Amino acid sequence: MNANDLTTIDVTLGTRSYPVWIGRGLLGDSARWRARLRGRHALVVSNTTVAPLHLERMTKGLEGLAWSSFLLDDGEAHKSFANVERVLAALAELGATRDACVIALGGGVVGDLAGFSAACWMRGIDFIQMPTTLLAMVDSSVGGKTGVNLPAGKNLVGAFHQPRAVVADIDTLATLPDREYRAGLAEVVKGAAIGDEPFFAWLETHADALAARDDDAVIEAIARKVRYKAGVVARDETEQGERALLNLGHTFGHALETAGRYTALLHGEGVAVGMLLAARLSERLGMSAAADTARLRRLLEKLGLPVVVPPGMDAQQLLALMRLDKKNTAGQLRLILWRGIGKAEIVGGVAESEVLAVLQAAVAA
Ligand code: NAD
Ligand code: GLY
Repeated sequence: MNANDLTTIDVTLGTRSYPVWIGRGLLGDSARWRARLRGRHALVVSNTTVAPLHLERMTKGLEGLAWSSFLLDDGEAHKSFANVERVLAALAELGATRDACVIALGGGVVGDLAGFSAACWMRGIDFIQMPTTLLAMVDSSVGGKTGVNLPAGKNLVGAFHQPRAVVADIDTLATLPDREYRAGLAEVVKGAAIGDEPFFAWLETHADALAARDDDAVIEAIARKVRYKAGVVARDETEQGERALLNLGHTFGHALETAGRYTALLHGEGVAVGMLLAARLSERLGMSAAADTARLRRLLEKLGLPVVVPPGMDAQQLLALMRLDKKNTAGQLRLILWRGIGKAEIVGGVAESEVLAVLQAAVAA
């Protein structure tokens, strides 16, 4: 694939189907994305880091419309109800009608909050995702999960609300810090590890190119992950079954993120270590081979991702945090495990003693 080419992947959901465009220069290619706007009003939601870097290029394309922008402060702490209210106030100020569109320009924090605000205004208006982190391009901008955090926990409030289009302009990645870029690669590996062994093998072959941010490799990796996720979302939009597989490594990962007070590990880094712990547990339960765990670890290491639990964490504390996961049912741990690369499964009733043994070995390593 050539980096100048445009890749289009459709998320097929009947009348709510939408394109994911992946390529260079797409923010400035307003003729393409403006065709997805139905009305005369647009509110651009971004944040104080992304806006100075990328906002102007896209707002040139809003000429002739009634539009304004709302900027969040940067950080997960600002994915809050209070900011949803502020976005809704900005829509009111703009005089936004039911055919208005919210445009999210930023990472997953901006996309989740802007999408949820769009879901709330007049019981649901259009929104367009313009993801500017690798994580948002390959995961959060696709599939319609929107929401905000509460003091009681992350993503506890939200709605399924699909965007009208996803505009993934890889030029925006030029300003993304390396650590954030690598965290996005963890979400790419996750898709392959769950359900696409040939993609996993491709990632092994192209790990050096991806670590070096080679454009062609990055576009191909985004496209393959998005194609995989789009298929899952089309089959199970509201997570009644298969979509839960997309959470491989999340139960361990969220516990690690929380134990690290959201500073020791980025979300994608928690997913990387979490996937490895899920692989070790699968191996311990006789579901998968040690060779699969070793392949996963090697790939994560090649991509510069963490593969060990940060120092100072306690196995019992991590287990207690895992008990709070939304996937659990009636006091039983329900985890996404695997039968090897590309073969993830939902497993209920996992014995806590087995999970604890994996955690104890990991914190002692
Ligand atoms: P983020 O939005 O916080 O972005 C990470 C950092 O990169 C921020 O500091 C941001 O300002 C900065 N940034 C963004 N684009 C940049 C650019 N082009 N150049 C320079 N800096 C840039 O984090 P994220 O990793 O993108 O997303 C994490 C969020 O996504 C979490 O809230 C998580 O819950 C959510 N999420 C949602 C879904 C979903 O399906 N909706 C899936 C995965 C994650
Ligand atoms: N990030 C998991 C999902 O979209 O379902």
